[in-house]
Amino acid sequence: MDVLIHVFVALHIIGIASLLGGFLTQMKAMGAGTARFVPAMLHGALTMLVTGVALVGLNEADGNHVNNIKIGVKLLVLVVVLGLVYIKRDEETVDKGAFAAVGGLTMLNIFIATLWT
Ligand code: HEM
Repeated sequence: MDVLIHVFVALHIIGIASLLGGFLTQMKAMGAGTARFVPAMLHGALTMLVTGVALVGLNEADGNHVNNIKIGVKLLVLVVVLGLVYIKRDEETVDKGAFAAVGGLTMLNIFIATLWT
C-alpha cells in the first residue's frame, strides 16, 4: 500500500508541474494581457483533483491520519482554480486578474501542502 501511496504522490506532483508549468509559460503574456489557459493547466488541475481524492482514500484505508481541515482548504482552493480554468478554457485571452488568481492560488496550495503539518 505504501508504494501505491507514493505512486499517487508522484502523480500528484506531475499534476502540479502541469498546472503551475502552464501558468509559468504564460507569465510574460499575462503582463501584456494576452495570456490564455493552456490545456496543460486544465489537465493538471483535473489530475490534482483525481490524485488528491485517491490519496485521501488510500491513506484512510491504510490507517494513516489525514488532516481533514487542511485537505478541505486545499480542495476549496482547487475548486476555484478548476472552475476558472474550465470556464475560460476556450477564451483566446484571459484577463490579468483571473490569470494571476489561478497562479497565486496554485502556489498557495503548494505552501498549504508543505507548511501545514
Ligand atoms: C492545486 C492543488 C494542490 C496542490 C498544489 C497540492 C500539493 C500537494 C503536495 C506538494 C503534496 C506533497 C507534500 C506532502 O506530502 O506533504 C500533496 C500531498 C497530498 N495532497 Fe495535495 N495538492 C493539491 C490539491 C489536493 C486536493 C484537491 C486534495 C484532496 C481532495 C489533495 C490531497 C492530498 C493528500 C491526501 C496528500 C498526501 C497527504 C498529505 O500530505 O496531506 N491535494 N499535495
